[in-house]
Amino acid sequence: MQPHIQTVEGKLGILLPGLGAVATTMIAGVIAVKKGIAQPIGSLTQMGSIRLGKRTENRYPLIKDFVPLAHINDIAFGGWDVYADNVYESALNAKVLEPGLLLSIKPELEAIVPMKAVFDKSYIKNLDGNNVKKAATKFELATAVMDDIENFRDANNCSRIVIVWCGSTEKYIEESAVHQTIESFEEGLRNNDPAISPSMIYAYAALHLGVPFANGAPNLTCDIPALIQLAKETDTPIGGKDFKTGQTLMKTILAPGLHARALGIRGWFSTNILGNRDGWVLDEPENFKTKEVSKLSVLDDILRPDINPELYGDLYHKVRINYYPPHGDNKESWDNIDIFGWLGYPMQIKINFLCRDSILAAPIVLDLALLMDLAKRSHMSGIQEWLSFYFKSPQTATGLRPEHDIFKQLIKLQNTLRHLMGEDLITHLGLDYYQDLVEAL
Ligand SMILES: NC(=O)c1ccc[n+]([C@@H]2O[C@H](COP(=O)([O-])OP(=O)(O)OC[C@H]3O[C@@H](n4cnc5c(N)ncnc54)[C@H](O)[C@@H]3O)[C@@H](O)[C@H]2O)c1
Repeated sequence: MQPHIQTVEGKLGILLPGLGAVATTMIAGVIAVKKGIAQPIGSLTQMGSIRLGKRTENRYPLIKDFVPLAHINDIAFGGWDVYADNVYESALNAKVLEPGLLLSIKPELEAIVPMKAVFDKSYIKNLDGNNVKKAATKFELATAVMDDIENFRDANNCSRIVIVWCGSTEKYIEESAVHQTIESFEEGLRNNDPAISPSMIYAYAALHLGVPFANGAPNLTCDIPALIQLAKETDTPIGGKDFKTGQTLMKTILAPGLHARALGIRGWFSTNILGNRDGWVLDEPENFKTKEVSKLSVLDDILRPDINPELYGDLYHKVRINYYPPHGDNKESWDNIDIFGWLGYPMQIKINFLCRDSILAAPIVLDLALLMDLAKRSHMSGIQEWLSFYFKSPQTATGLRPEHDIFKQLIKLQNTLRHLMGEDLITHLGLDYYQDLVEAL
């Protein structure tokens, strides 16, 4: 059944908890694109195309011309941060974009001032900003975030809102009793339960109002039964976790290829140096642990050592992140991959990726915001697994293994768009072309 998609009317508000390097790079980029001084490279929704029908039909529209997405001219940006810097100041501090580019859009950036954050230092030790909400209970904090969302929507004349978490990585926690039901979670909000993190409070507020919520960090956030249930009840899309950029992007491009050729892998050592605020937060072992779990999960799911023990049973996988200020946002990563081929003969692959973390992440934030809005208008509620393409550690229904292979993720995303628009799904079988040829002879 093809779902009915509500038409795009009015402005879309994109609200971002965390106006740091990634968020400001995205906002500045969209404004620069609107002004015609840059191109949205890396954004599938803006620059990607999609094949429709048979190859012989030669139909390859741009995705933005195929599905009814919000237009970038109809977006208003806002957000929260524990530091009071406006988006211009924060983008300058982040040192991702050239000061000249930022200067050319200074008034638009200065106008975006962070709302006071919900913050708890026990979740992020290395930050100490004071642009922070004060309230007696976590429940009151959630209510204050709901007020922020509604005030922003009214002040900016938005018809719809989406939220993408671009805040720092919180310390590692596991699901516990308070996270199990909406009732236990709300009780926990009233009792200031320490297992409810700030990111969960934003997510709760969003879902309560029916506002889609995507999580760009590896925090647990909306990946708990209580919030999954709330998303269902309020007909709201959710998704996460952790934007897939840099080293993990490379890993999920390369590992499916080695696996496809039944080549064995004995070891995969990944290390990074980066010197931005994200790196500083991840220098704290409790916060790094959250990131490590997210980064380590990809190989097992792609290679399936349980099914291919001879090829991947002894794989040693290690991931390190080192805080190194001179590199700023220009993260450098090294991978050493020990593989083996025919008759077990060993080979090595070395990757040295000199990337720009926020340049890779910014288009993901834009795409997620636009596609989550599309999901909401298409009445797709709960976990949006079709958006796994954008995440290091995709959220899935309980009991389902996440799909990490970027090519399978892309097929799933594209087929979902085809399904939404009533086009045939593409199976890549292709035998029918040859059948038709035989019949034509
Ligand atoms: N850059 C990438 O390639 C990439 C990839 C995957 C995931 N991420 C994740 O995205 C997030 C943002 O990365 P970044 O490079 O922009 O980091 P950043 O440190 O520059 O920005 C994060 C911002 O969040 C703010 N913040 C922290 N807790 C908050 C809260 N409770 N409420 C509101 N604001 C809060 C911080 O003050 C900071 O300004 C991080 O969690 C990072 O791990 C980034």
